[in-house]
Amino acid sequence: MRIVKYVFGLSVALMAMSLQSCTQARPENKSGHDLWLGDITSPVFAANKKLLDNYDKTLGDEGFRIKNNQKGDAVVYANTEAGLMYGTYHLKRLYDCGVKVDDEIVEVPAYKYRILNHWDNPNLTVERGYAGKSLWKWEELPGKIRPEYEEYARANASIGINGTVLNNVNADPCMLTREYLEKVKVLADIFRPYNIKVYLSLNFAAPKHLANLKTSDPLDKDVIKWWNDKVAEIYSIIPDFGGFLVKANSEGQSGPQDYGRTHADGANMIADAVKPYGGIVMWRAFVYAAESPDRAKQAVEEFKPLDGQFRDNVIIQIKNGPVDFQPREPFSPLFGQLEHTNIMAEMQITQEYLGHSNHMVYLHPMWKECLDSDTYQKGKGSTVAAETLGKVHGNTEWSAIAGVTNIGDSVNWCGHQLAQANWYAFGRMAWNPDLSSEQIIDEWLMQTFTTDRKFVEPVAKMMLASREACVKYEMPLGLHHCFSGAGHYGPGPWDRSSRPDWEPAYYHKAAADGIGFDRTSKTGSDAVSQYHEPLRSLYDNVETCPDELILWFHHLPWDYKMKSGRTLWNELCYTFEDGIQEARGFIGTWESVEKYVDPYRYGQVHEKLIRQAKDAIWWRDALMLYFQQYSKMEIPSDCTKPQHTLDELRRFRLRISNYETPALDKLPDYTLE
Ligand code: GCU
Repeated sequence: MRIVKYVFGLSVALMAMSLQSCTQARPENKSGHDLWLGDITSPVFAANKKLLDNYDKTLGDEGFRIKNNQKGDAVVYANTEAGLMYGTYHLKRLYDCGVKVDDEIVEVPAYKYRILNHWDNPNLTVERGYAGKSLWKWEELPGKIRPEYEEYARANASIGINGTVLNNVNADPCMLTREYLEKVKVLADIFRPYNIKVYLSLNFAAPKHLANLKTSDPLDKDVIKWWNDKVAEIYSIIPDFGGFLVKANSEGQSGPQDYGRTHADGANMIADAVKPYGGIVMWRAFVYAAESPDRAKQAVEEFKPLDGQFRDNVIIQIKNGPVDFQPREPFSPLFGQLEHTNIMAEMQITQEYLGHSNHMVYLHPMWKECLDSDTYQKGKGSTVAAETLGKVHGNTEWSAIAGVTNIGDSVNWCGHQLAQANWYAFGRMAWNPDLSSEQIIDEWLMQTFTTDRKFVEPVAKMMLASREACVKYEMPLGLHHCFSGAGHYGPGPWDRSSRPDWEPAYYHKAAADGIGFDRTSKTGSDAVSQYHEPLRSLYDNVETCPDELILWFHHLPWDYKMKSGRTLWNELCYTFEDGIQEARGFIGTWESVEKYVDPYRYGQVHEKLIRQAKDAIWWRDALMLYFQQYSKMEIPSDCTKPQHTLDELRRFRLRISNYETPALDKLPDYTLE
């Protein structure tokens, strides 16, 4: 028997704990919850080592069972040490949340591949990163190892994440050089005991860049050989390497179409190379060309004809919505359009379009909205969750889900004290997509702050309301992509760009005759037809289209009569107003729980909530004053008064790169009086 001090995650000693015929971890509950007992018989941790003589099929390789023994101690059983680890974390979570184990608990992860995507560059910048620089200090590796690497692994293991893509999808070819692979190996070695595999994003033109080949054509024999050799090299360095994530022929990235080949040709070449080692290829469906009249349709147009042509170890990675991580989109219709191809969802944990790490926005309700959406592909119940779990077409072996992380090297990891909740929620959701937003936020608040209900209840309520509030104050009623510049922080409905589909007007289409993107079958782009019935008709018909997506699917006159009886113009004004008031209300909620939070974290959150409320007014001012030029209608007098003129707002320039969040004092002046 050995006593192990329990810190935030599993200690290394506990990791080595196992029994011959069953595994157990028993919390000693006398002095708080930080003493754990375990019998240690195995000096070396091996995540895949089978621990039970009789393999328990129900639990699989990662599941666990917790039940009380005759003495009333909670015991964790698992087939593998990975299962034991997850069970122990689960038990700790229960104790931290004050939950007693009465009945037997059986937990098995829903998705097989539960993966974080880092958009981190070798030069330490993080694409859409709002929490400092990259966690991976490439220039110090492989020599210097920071403690954060293991802390990162522990935090991920505690929520069930079992894979991480270390680098940006806009991939620098250098990541595949021997020099970088030696660095990657160090991280892989640190993560392995936590059951986390390492993956890399690849640059499709790597054979040209790294080996001076004349081409990167996926059907060229030298190119195929180069990839086979490269993959063999990788596995000789990292034997359990997970595989690749690929952004090809998208936003300027090279891909098989550069050589007249298809996405399937490209994906299969890489898939064949990693197949002998058990690797996978996550091939992204995020493709769109400037010429298309409707960007939202392009993933289906591109990938549906290729259905059935991909190898079985290829998984098509699809963003939750058809455009790009907007505060609200309908689910991507591609989830319901493929039958013979593995698919996975890509959620964005970093808040590229939801106020960066300046705004408090709890994202689980947004992701769950997507996963719970019914595609109706095989009748009722073909939800996005069921599709991506492989339950609709019987390909459960390849179930996967990815989240673009919000993690950086900032002290609080995610740039906003409350943004860690989104990292936590993603992991919990990947483990169990049926968990409610309420349960997850409750757990997180209790483990992160206090179990006192006087704190947890109001703060949970505030966080649960935050995503909807953000939709209301940024882009309500189905509006989307009204951002200024490429920084994707503040409003800029007037903005111009080098490509029409990078201009807000492409999406809002505000004009004298009204506003909204006509995606209907008769007069519009017919994007509705990419959805199965009854959704197709529901969205197509303005009478039945839900208000929250109405301007996504319809172009409507300013005086269109909404279900509420208001004109569209007034509905927009009052929905913005609700968003503003909700954001203001968050400040009061936070002030009411001040005594439960340490001054440091209290102050940081407070300052950001104030800016969030100011930004809410900024969004309303910019969008409604701009639209007013066309509607010629007045903002109702009982709404918050605009604080800047349209001209002032148009003159304001927020110069930020794609790798940073604006400093609070660089944003337009607003007052909350
Ligand atoms: C968005 C984002 C880019 C990113 C891209 C992607 O367009 O703004 O920074 O590279 O998505 O998902 O590939």
